[in-house]
Amino acid sequence: MTVRITGVGKHLPARILSNADLEKMVDTSDQWIVERTGIRERRLAAPDESAASMGTQAARMALQTAGIRGDEIDLIVCATCTPDGMFPATACLIQDAIGARGATAFDVNAACTGFIAALTTAAQFIDASSKRRALVIGSEVFSRIIDWTDRSTCVLFGDGAGAVILEAADGKGPTPFVLKSDGAGYKLLYARGPASPRSSPIESEGFCIVMDGREVFRFAVRAMEEACRQVLDVAGLSIDDATYIVPHQANQRIITAVGKSLGVPPERMIVNLEKYGNTSSASIPLALCEAWEEGRLKEGDNLILVAFGGGLAWGASIVEWAKLGSEQHGARQAPEAARA
Ligand code: ACO
Repeated sequence: MTVRITGVGKHLPARILSNADLEKMVDTSDQWIVERTGIRERRLAAPDESAASMGTQAARMALQTAGIRGDEIDLIVCATCTPDGMFPATACLIQDAIGARGATAFDVNAACTGFIAALTTAAQFIDASSKRRALVIGSEVFSRIIDWTDRSTCVLFGDGAGAVILEAADGKGPTPFVLKSDGAGYKLLYARGPASPRSSPIESEGFCIVMDGREVFRFAVRAMEEACRQVLDVAGLSIDDATYIVPHQANQRIITAVGKSLGVPPERMIVNLEKYGNTSSASIPLALCEAWEEGRLKEGDNLILVAFGGGLAWGASIVEWAKLGSEQHGARQAPEAARA
């Protein structure tokens, strides 16, 4: 048994922060940001928005595109490293909001690799247990853990949420995945939390992101290429069998370098970071959802989902695109209707 995606959803806060806005806040320029990252604007959550509220909106759209109700979900796994609180899990807040009574709900934190970790966790549950339908969410409010005076990080990140519904699909092998971590690299990319030890080996004060951009860049290119090659090996596929690569949306230069090393042309890489920046664990489901809205994804497409981030952690999975639940039962849901 394996899994297929039967619903997709997204939510983006209304407020846009452009590169021109950032020019007024720190010593930077639109030209520097576009040349070094590819990002032109990002979204910022309103004061009353959170990982749970944005995740709920994305989940509602995913349910609608799947053509199912919240109480038909058996499992909710939410990837976030900016949760509403230390506990309960953000997944539990989303569970309550969508009426998924009876579902198992918990969070995973693998930083920007969180969506791959959440998706593969849900797929294992579906492969190995009686759970048939899972809601997998990536939802982040990085704007709350950014030092808005630090130009080396504040230009990179944005807020948003994405979600998919996974369902059991009989007759195929297990969902291929690769998930790796190297805790020795923890200092390259981290954010302290309210329960961090007072004499932590992690030295910064406050909860803001601390990052060695150049080292993370080098790691990212190596790790994403390696994860793609390894997951293709696990699946017994070649790179030519992959219709698209859906990479974590951190930096256009990283994505271009990975595409070049793999011999994959830009038109086979799904990229939307220009509009949203790095939304951490939300970036892959957001990119997937937009590719579906644009009509780019066709039944039978093989998609490599691949990410890297704090941990250090990295990973990839391959999913075969199928008709969404609502498309099987009739006309395709217009995105606006699906979001209502
Ligand atoms: N505007 C203008 N100048 C800047 C800015 C800015 N926003 N930021 C840095 N600079 C300057 C630096 O101070 C430096 O100046 P100097 O040469 O006088 O010292 C110069 O630009 C070059 O800095 P670099 O850090 O070498 O620039 P680089 O080309 O490496 O780009 C960047 C920096 C964009 C951060 C890049 O290294 C990168 O994308 N790294 C990966 C980051 C990433 O993907 N993080 C993902 C996190 S995922 C997670 O788990 C949270």
